[in-house]
Parts: sequence; C-alpha cells; structure tokens
Amino acid sequence: MASVPSLAATVHQRVADALSAALPEAGAADPLLRRSDRADFQANGMLALAKKLKGNPRELAQKVVGEISAPEVIKDIEVSGPGFLNITLSDEAIVTTLAARAADDRLGVPYAERPGTTVIDYAQPNVAKEMHVGHLRSAVIGDAVVQILEFTGEKVIRRHHIGDWGTQFGMLIQYLIEHPQELDHQAGAAPEEVSQQAGEAAMSNLNRLYKASRALFDSDEEFKDRARRRVVDLQAGDAETLALWQKFVDESKIYFYSVFNKLDMEIHDADVVGESGYNDMLTETCRLLEESGVAVRSNGALCVFFDDIKGPDGNPTPLIVQKSDGGFGYAATDLSAIRDRVGNLGADTLLYVVDARQSLHFKMVFETARRAGWLTDGTTAQQLAFGTVLGADGKPFKTRAGETVRLVDLLDEAIDRAASVVREKAQDLTEAEITERGGQVGIGAVKYADLSTSASRDYKFDLDQMVSLHGDTSVYIQYAHARIKSILRKAGEARPVAHPELALAPAERALGLHLDQFAETVADAAAEYAPHKVTAYLYQLASLYTTFYDQCPVLKAETPEQVENRLFLCDLTARTLHQGMALLGIRTPERL
Ligand code: ARG
Repeated sequence: MASVPSLAATVHQRVADALSAALPEAGAADPLLRRSDRADFQANGMLALAKKLKGNPRELAQKVVGEISAPEVIKDIEVSGPGFLNITLSDEAIVTTLAARAADDRLGVPYAERPGTTVIDYAQPNVAKEMHVGHLRSAVIGDAVVQILEFTGEKVIRRHHIGDWGTQFGMLIQYLIEHPQELDHQAGAAPEEVSQQAGEAAMSNLNRLYKASRALFDSDEEFKDRARRRVVDLQAGDAETLALWQKFVDESKIYFYSVFNKLDMEIHDADVVGESGYNDMLTETCRLLEESGVAVRSNGALCVFFDDIKGPDGNPTPLIVQKSDGGFGYAATDLSAIRDRVGNLGADTLLYVVDARQSLHFKMVFETARRAGWLTDGTTAQQLAFGTVLGADGKPFKTRAGETVRLVDLLDEAIDRAASVVREKAQDLTEAEITERGGQVGIGAVKYADLSTSASRDYKFDLDQMVSLHGDTSVYIQYAHARIKSILRKAGEARPVAHPELALAPAERALGLHLDQFAETVADAAAEYAPHKVTAYLYQLASLYTTFYDQCPVLKAETPEQVENRLFLCDLTARTLHQGMALLGIRTPERL
C-alpha cells in the first residue's frame, strides 16, 4: 500500500521548482504540463507568464531549462516554438516508476487525502412496475461512481430510493383484498440472490395484477371509492393494509434483484430504503418548513417559492411539499431523506443519480433544504443528471409499437449478441464457458456504452456497435486483456521482471507513460464523478497495448531480459485494465 508519485507529478514539480528559481517574482506559477507527441511532456506555462511579466517567452523558457536538475528523471529538455518546453524522460525513470506501481496491490493509486462520507442515491426502480432503460442508466452510472469513490477511500453509503409508496397502492391492495388468490406468494425476507425465472415470474404476476386492478379502477366507480379509502388506511398504518403492501414490495424486490443479478451488480437489501422509509418524518418535515417560514400555505397546499423559477405563464412554480388534501408527495420524501442522510448518516456529500428530466425537482429540493438549514456550507448536494437513451432513430428508446422497452429484454438481447461474438472467436472454450463469457461480454458492453459518454449526454442504444470488436467498446478492452493473459500463460518459465537498465522502444515508452497515468485518471474521475474518464483511459491503454504488441515481440524478444521486461509491461497492462474495468463494474475474463 504505497502510493507512487506519477512521472507527470514528478516532472511537474521539477519544472515548477525551476520556474520559481529562475523567476522568483513569478510566485508559484503553473508550468501547465501535458503529455505531448513531440516529446514525452510539454510545458506551456512560460507563454502566459512571459505575457504577464512582459518578457520574452523563449528567454524565460531558457532560464527555466538552466535551473532544471534531474538527470535521473529528465533526459532531455529543450525550448521549442514560441517558448514551450519539450521534455523527454529517461527510460530508466519510466520502468522504475512502473515497477513501484507493480509492487503495489493498488497499482500505486493513493487514497484521497481527506476522504468524506458520501450518500449516493441510485438504482431506484418503482414497485410493481417494469424497469426500463432509465433505471439502467442510474444503476450503471451509480455503481461505477460507488466503486471509483470507494477505491479512493471515501466512505460511501448507498441508498436505493425505490418508488414504494403512493396512491397507486390503494388500488392494488384493494384489488388483492377482493381477489386474495391472486398473489399467494410468500416472499418473506427479500432475497439478494434470485433466479431469473423467479424474477420474471414475479414481474409477470405484478403486471397482471396491475392491469386487472387498473381496469377495475377505471370502470367501476364503487371500486374506485374503495381503493381511495384504502390509500387512507395505508397512510394511517392499518396493519392488514400494510401487510398486503409489503407483499407487493417483496414481490417487486424479487424482480429487482433478478435484474441486478443479471446486471452483475451487488445491491444489498439493507441499502434499499424506499420512499416509504421516510414516512415517519414527513409530518415533522412539513412542520419545520412551515414554522421557519421556508414554506407557506397557498390554496391549502404547503409550498416553497423561488424567485427564479416560473412557469410558462410567468407565475412562480412552487415546490409542493404537502397537497391541499393533506397528502405528501415526492418532495416531502426527498426533503426528509436529506434530513436523514445528513443528520443521521453523517453525509458531507449527497449524490443523486437521476434522469435529467428531474433536474428542476432537485434544484428546488436542494434550495429548500439550504433555506431550512438541513444542507449547510459543509455539505454538497448534487444531482448527477443523466441524459436520455435514444433509439437508432434518435428518439427516446421505444419498441416498434411505441412502448417502453423492458430492460430485461434489452439485456437478454445484448447477452445473445455477445455470445455469438464470443462463439465466433472461441478457440478452446466449452459451450458453458461461451454462455458465461456471453454474459460478461454482453453486460459489459451495455455498461461500457452507457459509461463511455459523459452521463449528462443522451446516447444511442446501438447493440451492433456495443458488441463490436473494433473501436471504443468493452469487448475490445476485454480482448486486449485476454490476449495478454494468454501470452503470460504461454511464457512458461519466463517471468515478468522490470529491467530499468534496458532501452525502450517508442511503443514501450508510450504504453509505459500511459500506464503511469492510471492514478491521476482515477483521482480525476472521482473528483468529477466521471466514469467516462476511466473508459477513455482504458480504451487508450488497450490501443497503446495493441501498437506495442504489433511492434515489439514479447516472447521472441532479443534477450531474456527484454522478454522479462516486456512480460512485465504486459502484466502491468493486464492488471491496470482489470482494475479499471472493475471500477466500472465490468469483468475481464482470463480467456475469450
Ligand atoms: N423512482 C424514481 C424514478 O423511477 C427515481 C428516484 C430518484 N431518487 C430520489 N431520491 N428522488 O423515476
């Protein structure tokens, strides 16, 4: 567990030191170091600085060069163009640094200096309803953010804010009371491990009940009345009503868990705290808001107003915390959840992985919580708003008949396609292995496609592209990983050993320098909640590896030391690909 300073960080420090030695009047100026094709790194900071000091950038850069002293790391530094610094590292520094990474389980990735407590709200489907692509996005992005944050040492508390409360339950429960044989399933404690069949059966039960009760509700006025009274019983905590409500929740959880299993995602029952979990707080939340004047009564409803939020008619659009009939809505629950997450769970950061179409809701909820003092200066609340999943036609993803696509169908199709890709390539895989890999490749493809565009953007759901072996896909990365594993198996007696004394070929240098940037990539992805930074990094890593593999024979290298050194690069690449993909919730099988 030793964090390894990256070469970029070391060079940055050296150039910054040289800058302040050459130009003490400049204070701590940023050398603006970046990777470059011309040399290993380029520093552009002298340009802005010269402008500020009204000097000549090339002269200034030359002075900085005179102050650099790090022969063991920097092999060459020269002034170029209008006043850039081109910096070339020694091969030895590259291999030595990589060897330090390889010696560490965490590949030298440091823990955050001041980790905090983040409560993340993600993977929140609704009881008695099918999951759709929106729920997929929340689950996939949320899970990746959880893994990335935990890897940096953050304490992460997961909250699956499932939609398990609301007036629709009156109708469902009343129907069940009148047709008791319809749901005799005794789910008991929610199981985290569920078979696909059980999940499907649960959902089809719920669908049938939903349709039947809806039909009755729409056609039979007396049933409608009974259903409405049932809502009141539910809210009053009537035991029989609650027991039936619990059945719906349990049956739904069987379905949810089966989907999460298919998604190869660990969701724990203790973290499923749905809307109903905040029931006991709602009255008090409203009382506190009203007493403090944050919320006011308007036509009987308890509302919070905002100067800058108006409807199309120019009238203010309030956040309604309590309806005029006394019912509490989505907002009251979210405000209570904030009180719980900050007050009881000790969160300093609240994240919500929720569709961008709910952005106004969260803006109003956060602002209300600030006014009420539940969110203070020390706490951040942020919605990681994600865009819409589009079909090939560029419109929100629907079936031909215009219906919402069932998530399960989509995943099954991805798995099928992936299995055929695997089968085509399979050399020594059994049928059982092909099925297993098909799952890992198919689910990986879906996750990767979702994560590789920045969350806020819409993306097209295109299975052909997702499972393609070429281009920016998880399959490409999984193949690169499996190929390395196969080389390592074939190496026989030869072991991966770093040899800093060897000269590196250009493709080895490029691969090595990129391997060294893993820690910074993880830190950036964590700071910005941006899993797409990890996907971009991994794709580039796999591409650089491919070039290396084409240009540098590994097992047939010239000397035994070179074989070992190249195996070392292979091994570190495989480990970095594996770790990076694990942060995204994607498997990297040993063979494909
Ligand atoms: N269940 C909601 C939906 O399906 C998402 C819940 C988001 N989380 C929250 N705290 N409001 O749209």
